[in-house]
Amino acid sequence: MTLDAVLNRIDATLPEAVDRLLELARIPSISTDPTYAGDCQRAADWLVRDLAALGFQASARPTPGHPMVVAHGGAGDGSGRHLLFYGHYDVQPVDPLNLWARDPFDPVVEETPKGKVIRGRGTSDDKGQLLTFIEACRAWKAVHGTLPGKLTIFLEGEEESGSPSLVPFMRENADELKADLALICDTGLYEDRVPAITTMLRGLVGEEVVIHAANKDLHSGSYGGAAANPIRVLAKILAGLHDDQGRVTLPGFYDDVDELPEAVRAQWQGLAFDHARFLGEVGLSVPAGERDRTPLEMIWSRPTCEFNGIAGGYAGAGFKTVLPAEARAKVSFRLVSRMDPAKIRAAFRAYVESCLPADCRVEFHPHGGSPASVMQIADPAFEEARGALTEEWGVSAAYIGSGGSIPIAGYFKSVLGMDAMLIGFAKDDDQIHSPNEKYDLDSFHKGIRSWARILDRLA
Ligand code: BES
Repeated sequence: MTLDAVLNRIDATLPEAVDRLLELARIPSISTDPTYAGDCQRAADWLVRDLAALGFQASARPTPGHPMVVAHGGAGDGSGRHLLFYGHYDVQPVDPLNLWARDPFDPVVEETPKGKVIRGRGTSDDKGQLLTFIEACRAWKAVHGTLPGKLTIFLEGEEESGSPSLVPFMRENADELKADLALICDTGLYEDRVPAITTMLRGLVGEEVVIHAANKDLHSGSYGGAAANPIRVLAKILAGLHDDQGRVTLPGFYDDVDELPEAVRAQWQGLAFDHARFLGEVGLSVPAGERDRTPLEMIWSRPTCEFNGIAGGYAGAGFKTVLPAEARAKVSFRLVSRMDPAKIRAAFRAYVESCLPADCRVEFHPHGGSPASVMQIADPAFEEARGALTEEWGVSAAYIGSGGSIPIAGYFKSVLGMDAMLIGFAKDDDQIHSPNEKYDLDSFHKGIRSWARILDRLA
């Protein structure tokens, strides 16, 4: 009965919830760019105010980077679990800005052929998603007068830049952050209307490499041929990282990669993933990874080496005959199984150094490193939550893998000894990290309702 009242309350107050998401999404909390540090603080403060209004003891806690929001609320009757909810309020950079149809930080609700969407940077990843949980708490409080059981909310502002302050913060505040189970809302549905619990995430190593040659930019006629060209050196280094079978060539790269257990392989086969549609929707047709793997394996259970950005010389309008003094690339590795971020970084650096010709020098800048994580789903809470999701969406919820990375998912276990349950409502076409990011109004609405149902079973 009271669950129905909470669900009705969610339906009736959806417009106000959307307004709150629009307000939060107007704050350009781009964590990787120091220009936006003040905005990251503003987003944290906005969340502290909102959580305090719901009766949480909330504060924005300083770190060497962006603040962590920590809030405690509810008491419960001692019979339910103490739950901790995690989300992140930081967002990815918006460039290329010219590909956005509107200002990324002036979000709106838009009508599209597939339904209403909330468009703007962070509306899906992860402001809309984290608010699904907070809005469920709000409706719960309005109906019950109390929060759903004993609850800790933990919101990070550095997830999109590798979570550099996270592990020290978790260690220093371990007693305060320890709960019975962590809930994370930063993943997706399996298909547009099929809810999912994500049980595997890849890890990530980010590394920027800068190749230097001459002590200044040179005329490519006066010096070309005689002088080392850092773009040429860099291109050769990057090209050497994959063989013609799509495998990464770094020595030892696959040493700690396990084959998928038969049971998981069989379960994934049961998901009947539509490979052609997956690539087709983004205008592609031929999988570009390891030749002997299916696209689902490529994104969920195999490691990668990808180039995320490359720069050097003149790339502006027209043409310039220059030999640049330096060239740079941002390289990332997605990790699986037992791959060790430090070992992969070291292997990459050793390879680059071994390729350097005379007169060239290399500089490395690390950008985060976190291992892959596999969630334990033995806690009966997982089946309870799956039941709640199935009820809300009308189709059986799936256990799935994910190609993305959420560093904290593994740290809950390794640092705090807690299991984490990953449930999210993003769709593959949300364009997270890309121009024109959006969150379906339906994801937001049914996401809030899903949490209400889950909390009703767990809290
Ligand atoms: N929400 C994503 C992770 C994600 C992506 C989950 C796709 C499921 C499907 C998260 O916010 C994210 O983008 N993380 C970064 C982390 C990195 C910078 C350490 C990522 O995966 O690139």
